[in-house]
Amino acid sequence: MSELKKKIEESVKSVRKVSAIVPEVAIILGTGLGALANEIKNKVEIDYKNIANFPLSTVEAHAGKLILGEMGGKKVVAMQGRFHRYEGYTYRQVTFPVYVMKALGAKILMVSNAAGGLNKNYKAGEIMAITDHNSLLLGDNPLAGENDDTIGPRWPDMFGTYDRELLALAEKIAVEQKIKLNKGVYIGVIGPNLETEAEYKFLIAMGGDCVGMSTVPEVIVARHCGLRVLGISVVTDMCIPGHLEAADITKIIANAAEAEPKLTKIMAAVVKEVKI
Ligand code: HPA
Repeated sequence: MSELKKKIEESVKSVRKVSAIVPEVAIILGTGLGALANEIKNKVEIDYKNIANFPLSTVEAHAGKLILGEMGGKKVVAMQGRFHRYEGYTYRQVTFPVYVMKALGAKILMVSNAAGGLNKNYKAGEIMAITDHNSLLLGDNPLAGENDDTIGPRWPDMFGTYDRELLALAEKIAVEQKIKLNKGVYIGVIGPNLETEAEYKFLIAMGGDCVGMSTVPEVIVARHCGLRVLGISVVTDMCIPGHLEAADITKIIANAAEAEPKLTKIMAAVVKEVKI
């Protein structure tokens, strides 16, 4: 058995000591976007520190627990607090929990993040469904190294990474709830610093609509192990060259909190309505 598989099974064992729930949907909640967890009923919460092989979350606004329970008639597992490359973890560590949630039973991954807006038609506080991503600035790849063919293929295809049915469902719900839902490309970067004006110009030239420090590694791993993916970004600050203002993390978290109810409504409704 591969080292990765052994570690996954040890983590599953830690979770199984506390909960027998077999989740259908896995959810990763981004910076300042933890409120969806309040919709989870009959829940069991497990601190990451009590799960074998889980890294520990260090960032402000990240609670660091795995939550299992029910939402909208489905069994779910949610990560409240995620891991980032800029905290010093490798991409393998950052993405390890995705494999664990898949091993627990999940078929779908729903992921949220706080992101900078690169598309001049967006406004801070709006949300964007991710239609595609760009991983080429990450500097490394979570799948680099030994591959376990029982987990996923050596060369996973990224065609249809952001599941069309899930996107269509999110759009339908946004229309019903009268929420403006942009659609666009998310570019993943390492962080932790925000970008310079020259870097924003480059990201826009690359075709980015949003930029952020998470999500892409987790989505690559989700596709590797066959999870269907829905990703939604909250635009916490606008990054338009010529119109830049000093962004501070307090403001970013405040904007995230303002946009959060829209994200929460859409994601909760997707969980409820999605056919597994
Ligand atoms: N750049 C990268 N990540 C971000 C940003 C940004 O401007 N805003 C929120 N997350």
